[in-house]
Amino acid sequence: MKVLVIGSGAREHALAWKLSQSPRVQMIYVAPGNGGTAADPNLRNVPISDPEALADFAAAEKMVLTVVGPEAPLAAGIVDLFKSRGLRIFGPTKAAAQLESSKAFAKEFMQRHGIPTALYASFTDAAAAHAHVTKHGAPIVVKADGLAAGKGVVVALTADEAHAAIDGMLSVPGGRVVIEEFMDGEEASFIVACDGQHVVPLATSQDHKRIFDGDQGPNTGGMGAYSPAPVVTPNVHAKVMQEIVLPTIAGMAKEGMPFTGFLYAGLMIDAQGQPRTVEFNARLGDPEAEVILMRMKSDLFDLLMHGAEGTLDKAEVQYDRRVALGIVMAAAGYPGTPRNGDPITNLPAAREDLMVFHAGTKAADGHVLSAGGRVLCVTALADSVRQAQQRALDAVRQVRFEGAQWRNDIGHRAIRH
Ligand code: AMP
Ligand code: GLY
Repeated sequence: MKVLVIGSGAREHALAWKLSQSPRVQMIYVAPGNGGTAADPNLRNVPISDPEALADFAAAEKMVLTVVGPEAPLAAGIVDLFKSRGLRIFGPTKAAAQLESSKAFAKEFMQRHGIPTALYASFTDAAAAHAHVTKHGAPIVVKADGLAAGKGVVVALTADEAHAAIDGMLSVPGGRVVIEEFMDGEEASFIVACDGQHVVPLATSQDHKRIFDGDQGPNTGGMGAYSPAPVVTPNVHAKVMQEIVLPTIAGMAKEGMPFTGFLYAGLMIDAQGQPRTVEFNARLGDPEAEVILMRMKSDLFDLLMHGAEGTLDKAEVQYDRRVALGIVMAAAGYPGTPRNGDPITNLPAAREDLMVFHAGTKAADGHVLSAGGRVLCVTALADSVRQAQQRALDAVRQVRFEGAQWRNDIGHRAIRH
């Protein structure tokens, strides 16, 4: 059987790699893929990104399943398009993907369904937004409404910072900001597979959004992750399912937008172990997917087929008991404009306990070149967080490309736990 993976990051490399382990899958196409998927003999890159052209390709090649990695094609309605053409696909419709694509939709939805989250207000008018900040004071959180790859959020420690963020975000045409109560606590990523009705929670994980060690510097798409997240104790896990995930799935179905695909709840867990939702994403996290899939022992293809067919109550998922930890190697300049086109050398060979998932790379006559902000995600399995961190760092320090940046402290919260 043939499967199509849409996207070009390390998440999609990990998805395709894991799918290639399924005995039922013969060929995996990755559109458009990257230098890592190009190098794997089990995978084939196809240079297509237009949704209609992807649907034509899936139909012509008799793809048994398509899975979508990134948010942009989901928000643009690629699932609706595939379904309208009778093509099996795992992902949310455009309406369901609003949980990620519109922060205002997500916040209003959570309010309607009593799902715990920060208090918020939404503004298109700058004067009203400024008055709100003046009234509530700092710390306060200002978010641009719309897809911003985790970069459209300012956690303002002073009112001045909040005012500046509002001016920046409302200066774009059609700009809208969401201003939120600041939540204190520890973050975790809670990702589930859904078929519209049934839910299978994946292993828990945590990522590190800031560019520098010690969680300093600007936000990025994610500089590293590990799984499991010790902050998600069995008690917290049960609360997240009862108070956040299950009401969300039931609420979406009730409102006529059943959620099929990966639902990612970004959580803030306070000192009492009470979880609240920071945000929803309508997809797997990146780099969370890399560490979750590195630990997954069961067949990913089976899980996705059950998801697409509405039979997730019959799915079984097993994980390696070891910890997986992934360190992102980013290009110089990231999260601003990244430097590109540098040769990447000394890549370690894949092992049972070490995988280098490619993100922004491309193959060019026998070489691998950097071609994006996040370039690689070096992912290791080991018996403890500390050992997994060491194993991943040993590999990271061996890889060479000009100006590479990475964090040396991925997993520090888990090590503290
Ligand atoms: P988001 O894109 O909504 O996930 O926000 C990016 C990051 O900003 C989150 O991962 C948090 O670290 C932080 N953040 C967002 N909203 C809040 C909030 N209400 N309170 C505290 N931190 C927040
Ligand atoms: N790592 C966070 C995300 O994928 O949104």
